[in-house]
Order: sequence, then structure tokens, then C-alpha cells
Amino acid sequence: MLLLAAQSPHDAIPDVALGKRIFASQCAVCHGEGGTGGRGPALTHAKLAKAPDEESLRKAIAQGIPPEMPGAWQLSVREVASVAKYVQGLGTVLPEKLPGDARRGAQVFGAKGCGGCHLVDGVGTARGPELTAIGAKRNGAHLRTSVIAPASHLPEDYLMLEVTTAAGRTVRGVRAAEDPFSVQLRDAGGALHSFRKGELKQWRHLAGESSMPSFAKQLSAGELEDLVAYLAGLRGNQ
Ligand code: HEC
Ligand code: HEC
Repeated sequence: MLLLAAQSPHDAIPDVALGKRIFASQCAVCHGEGGTGGRGPALTHAKLAKAPDEESLRKAIAQGIPPEMPGAWQLSVREVASVAKYVQGLGTVLPEKLPGDARRGAQVFGAKGCGGCHLVDGVGTARGPELTAIGAKRNGAHLRTSVIAPASHLPEDYLMLEVTTAAGRTVRGVRAAEDPFSVQLRDAGGALHSFRKGELKQWRHLAGESSMPSFAKQLSAGELEDLVAYLAGLRGNQ
């Protein structure tokens, strides 16, 4: 029987260094070195869809997520807790010192209409990813690139896809959901389209294409730094 609860006080203390070694030898084959993604999804998010809290994360690691993610039955309770701790750390970016002024950055965010596509603390429109806790997930360099060259750093949950149905209809959009049998796209107008993979003639990932326009020409160097400082300061309810 699998025991997820700690068996002794010693078991309860996770060791991140141990977790890192286990990750490199048993998880990186699928999740990439440092959890940046590969055959399995990237784990460098502050919130993981299938493992949103520590308990569900430990459970996902120990028991797996059928059918594609194998359970790590060979790991002890303490080893599972250690990998879980390491994985949690992958999604947290420590605050860094940035040159911009976050308060002015908030004004730039409003003036440039970023809220037309992004939610921050419940305000705005969710056409793109929610940014309420973006500063806890991405460092300043990533945020800067996201604004001036959006297509170069596509978060994998905003993958652009183009599918062609057996009837010859072509639809492009951002991937809203995907499982082994079906895929859902949200088109530029916001409408959701659902397809069974078996019924598609072809489908391809549009690498390097983003539905977010580049703001490189619309921002002065100072405005860009202020905006980055503002985004980096968005750390959820911390
Ligand atoms: C054989 C490949 C493979 C191995 C090895 C593997 N995983 Fe996974 N993992 C996956 C796949 C595929 C998914 C996506 C499953 C799904 O969403 O149905 C996944 C999902 C996850 C998730 C949930 C991610 C999310 O966004 O909710 C976590 C956490 C995770 N894996 C951690 C680990 C850890 C830690 C290890 C090592 C102990 C590991 N995995 C080993 C393939 C693998
Ligand atoms: C027309 C809609 C639209 C507008 C306007 C827009 N974005 Fe985006 N943004 C997106 C989409 C969609 C993504 C998801 C990835 C992609 O396609 O680039 C994204 C991604 C991002 C990311 C990366 C998120 C991550 O998880 O890494 C940041 C940061 C960001 N936008 C900030 C901004 C800022 C700041 C502005 C205003 C200057 C802005 N966006 C304006 C649609 C938009």
C-alpha cells in the first residue's frame, strides 16, 4: 500500500538537493533538464494544472497521471517529498532588482491597452495568459522579451495551432486544451473550436507565431523598463 503521509519526523523533511538529483535521473528524460519541458510538460510554472498544491503534487509524482505520466513507485515517501519540493522551486522566481519604476509601469500597462488581452487581479480581458502572478513565474529578461518579441518566448500553454479537417476547413488559433484524442482551439475572435484528432487531415504547431503584437516600437527604453518592473512585481497575493 502506498503511504503518502509522513511515517516519521525524518520522512517529513524534504531535501531539495536530493530532489534535484532524483529529478535529473528520473524525470528530466521527459520533463527536460530543469523542468523546461520535453515529452512531458514544462514544470516551471507557479501553478501546475494537475498538481496545484503540495499534496496533489506528491500524489502526481508517486502515483503518476494516467496514461502518459508514470508513477514513481520506486521512491520513498521522503524522496517523493524531496522531488516535490524541488519541482515547486522551479516555478518560483525570486524577486530581482530591476532598473524600472513599477508604479510608472502600471500606467504604461494601462495606456498601451495591455488589459485588453490580459487579466491582472480580476481586471482586464483573458485573451492572453493571466498576469496576476507573472512575476513569480518569469524573470525580468523573459518579461522584457515577451513584450518586445512575443513570438520568441511563447509560453507552451499558448501554442498556436493550425488544423485542417477532413472536409478541408482550416482553423488557426491558440491551443485551449489538448489530450491524446482531441484538441481545442480558440481563434482570434475568441470562439472555441473542438476537434477529434482522428478526424483531422493535418495539424501543425505554428512555432514562432504569436497573437500578441510586438510593442518594441511603441515603448521608449524607459517605458519598457518601467513596464518590466511592474510585471515583475505582480506576484499574486504575496
Ligand atoms: C515517461 C515520461 C515521464 C516521466 C519519466 C515523468 N513524467 Fe511527469 N509527466 C509526463 C507527462 C506526459 C505528463 C502530462 C500528463 C497529463 O497531463 O496527462 C506529466 C505530468 C507531470 C506533472 C503535472 C504537470 C502539470 O502541468 O500539471 C508533474 C508535476 C510531473 N509530471 C512531475 C514529474 C516528476 C517529478 C517526475 C520524476 C519523478 C516525472 N514527472 C516523470 C511524463 C513523464
Ligand atoms: C492582442 C492581445 C494582446 C495584447 C494587446 C497584449 N498581449 Fe501580452 N500576450 C498575449 C497572448 C495571446 C500571449 C500568449 C503568448 C503569445 O502568443 O505570445 C501574451 C503573452 C504575454 C506575456 C508572457 C506571458 C508568459 O506566461 O510568459 C507577457 C509578459 C505579456 N503578454 C505582457 C503584455 C503587456 C505588458 C502588454 C501591453 C504592452 C501586452 N501583453 C499586450 C496577447 C496580448
